Amino acid sequence: MTKTTVQAPANIAFIKYWGARDLERAIPCNPSISMTLESCATRCTVELLPEGTKDEVWLSEPDGGFRTPPHEFHQRMGRHLDRLRQWAGSRTAFRVATKNGFPTGGGLASSASGFAALTLAVAGALGRSDAPRAELSRLARASGSGSAARSVFGGYVEWPAPARGKGSHGATAGTDTDDDPAAAQIASPDHWDLADVIAVVEIGPKVVSSLEGHRRALTSPYFEKRQELLPARLERVRRAIRARDLEQLGPVLEEEAIDLHLIAMSSTPPIFYWSPGTVGVLRAVRELRQEGIHAYATMDAGANVHVLCEPDSVDDVAARLDSLPVVGFVIRDGVGAGPEVDTDHLF
Ligand code: PMV
Repeated sequence: MTKTTVQAPANIAFIKYWGARDLERAIPCNPSISMTLESCATRCTVELLPEGTKDEVWLSEPDGGFRTPPHEFHQRMGRHLDRLRQWAGSRTAFRVATKNGFPTGGGLASSASGFAALTLAVAGALGRSDAPRAELSRLARASGSGSAARSVFGGYVEWPAPARGKGSHGATAGTDTDDDPAAAQIASPDHWDLADVIAVVEIGPKVVSSLEGHRRALTSPYFEKRQELLPARLERVRRAIRARDLEQLGPVLEEEAIDLHLIAMSSTPPIFYWSPGTVGVLRAVRELRQEGIHAYATMDAGANVHVLCEPDSVDDVAARLDSLPVVGFVIRDGVGAGPEVDTDHLF
C-alpha cells in the first residue's frame, strides 16, 4: 500500500481565537491572525487499509517505536477520520502515525499542527490533495482544534469569524458557507522574515485544554470588553504586517496575550496557564527592550512564551532567555512556508 506523509507546522497567534460560537465545530467568536512557524511541526504518515478493517492510530516515539495515544486523543482522531471519510465519500480504513517535533500539549499549538498534518495527509492518501486550500482548512478546523484552520497555510494567516448571530448552526464540514468563512494567507513568509524565540518553561501537558478554555471564556466579565477592542486591534496587526513594522506589532501582541490570560484567569472556574517562569520571561523581555533590543512576548493557552524579534536579534534574545534559571530550553523558530509533503515516512 502506498503511504502519504505530510509535515505541518504549528502557528503562533498574534490575535487569539478565544471563545467559540459553536464549540463542536470550532466556529470562533472573533477573527484571529497568526504566523505559521517553521521548525515546530508535526509529521503524519497515512496508509490506506482495506474497507471493513479498523483504523489504527499510533504516536511515534523518539526512539523510533510507536505507542497508542491517550484515550481522549485517540477518540478525537477517530472522529476526525470519520469526518474525512464522509467528506471524500470513502469507506476505506487508515493506518496513521503522527510525530511531534516539539513539546506536546504545552500551549505550543501541537493540536493545530497535528490536525492540519492529519487532514492533509488523509486528503493526499485519498487522492484529494488538489481540493481548494480553503476547503482543507475548514476540514482541519472541524477537528475541533480551530487553530488548525490556520496551520494549513504558510506565512501570515487570518481566520475570519462569522458576523454576530451567524455561525451557530450546522453545515457539512469543508463546504463554503457565509457563516463559516475560511482562513487565508494575508502575507507570504517572504514578505517579512520574523523570528520567534520560544522560551520553554514547562513541558508537561497544560492543566486545562484550550477546548475547555473556549467554553469558560464566555463566563469572564472581560470577554465582551475584549470583543469591543478587537476590531481596532486586528487592524493594527494587519497594518503592522503590511508595513513589516515590529515596533507597531509588538505592543498590540502583548496587549492581546495579556487579555487572553486575563479572560482565562477571570473565567468560572478560573484557569491559570502561567507559571512563575512565564513571569520571569516577561520581565526579561522588558529588560531586553530597555537595552534597545526590539523583542515582544506572547503566549497561547500555556505557560511557554514566544518572543518575536528581528532575525539579527535572535542570538541576543536566545542567549538572554536561555540564561534564566526558569527556562528549560529555547527553540529558535520563525515564519515558515507552511505544510509540505514529505517522503520520509514514519513507518
Ligand atoms: O485551536 P484551539 O482550540 O487549540 O485553540 C487555540 C487557542 C489559542 O492558541 C490560545 C489561540 C489561537 O488562536 O491559537
